[in-house]
Amino acid sequence: MNEFDRPRSRKGTASVKWDFLEKNCGGSDLLPLWVADMDFPSPPEVVEALTKRAEEGIYGYTDHSADYFSALEEWNRKRHGWRCDPSWVVSVPGVVPALNMAVRAFTKPGDKVLVQRPVYYPFMNSIELNGARVINSPLVLRDRRYRMDPKDLEEKLSDPRCRMMILCSPHNPVGRVWQEGELRLVADLCREKGVILVSDEIHSDLVFPGFRHRPLLSIDPSYSSFTLLCTSPSKSFNLAGLQCANMIVPDPILRRGILEERERLGLFLPNFFGGVALEAAYRYGEPWLERLMTYLKGNLDLLTRFLGDRLPEAILTEPEGTYLAWVDLRGVERDWPRAEKILLERAKVAYDPGVLFGPEGEGYIRINLACPRSLLQEALERTAQAFGR
Ligand SMILES: Cc1ncc(COP(=O)(O)O)c(C=O)c1O
Repeated sequence: MNEFDRPRSRKGTASVKWDFLEKNCGGSDLLPLWVADMDFPSPPEVVEALTKRAEEGIYGYTDHSADYFSALEEWNRKRHGWRCDPSWVVSVPGVVPALNMAVRAFTKPGDKVLVQRPVYYPFMNSIELNGARVINSPLVLRDRRYRMDPKDLEEKLSDPRCRMMILCSPHNPVGRVWQEGELRLVADLCREKGVILVSDEIHSDLVFPGFRHRPLLSIDPSYSSFTLLCTSPSKSFNLAGLQCANMIVPDPILRRGILEERERLGLFLPNFFGGVALEAAYRYGEPWLERLMTYLKGNLDLLTRFLGDRLPEAILTEPEGTYLAWVDLRGVERDWPRAEKILLERAKVAYDPGVLFGPEGEGYIRINLACPRSLLQEALERTAQAFGR
């Protein structure tokens, strides 16, 4: 049996995905294919390192050792062909906290921050909850592929109140792994307009064959003066509960801004387990990650076949990376509130509704493919039957 096929019950583990369905999705007896965490145990090397750490039995204040930074540096070199200097790294309790810190550190009330919707909704929250305003340069769907609109992007970045852009690279939920030319377009425009670029690269290790993630800072050394790059092993190795992420900030003034903000918030010491997990994942987890990607591709193929056979009116935007699939259900049911009711009450499956990611996503669902294949199959079967197919 494939290691990822083994069903693991997560009910009763205080899992947000499984145990807080009522609160988050409006029903408790649903199959959860929503929030971006995986139903797979982390690589055995990570579990082993964490077990050993737990057995120490003393859980006092802790900080990252030199090994932590060298594991991060090695991973980026090996995986992405990019050297990130350990002195650039600011460890943070998560990428979402990092986005909030960046908005707080570098914008004033009323400043604008550009996003490209439909996009991971905490981007908008991090802007609005910290006194700034969202400015949207929507992605454009053409031939089932989302693209940036260079003219619109330039126009919006030219707004004198636009201080920052938050880029999602690879993009959640539309699954694009941006090509070098697209990243250059964004970064060149930000440089020209004096806009700080925050590049959220949390999905950078989850890329399907035929595509390659380019860390924004690896493309051109001159981007270092205005770019903050966010990474974490949490999506790739299923460690989201350990609160361990990094901001990579080569520019000393921007770095100082983030460090001061981190200080103001009192978030300067990491979780006792996070560093150990990152080190084990980055040093020993790559073969597991490769097997994971093969499995996820199998799940994606299943979804593609299933939709073709049973729900041909549903349109899949083929993801190039991430374990999330973005599906347009409008051909199946035009009325979103009705479609949502059918999914929750008849199919009893929790997908993320597309509208969460902005009004551009109305009528879409985001499917989390990181579950045993049998579970995906059951969710899809229930979905098709609920729509009478
Ligand atoms: C684009 C993106 N950024 C950030 C996060 C969450 O990051 P963290 O859990 O480190 O706050 C997610 C989780 O799904 C995500 O998709």
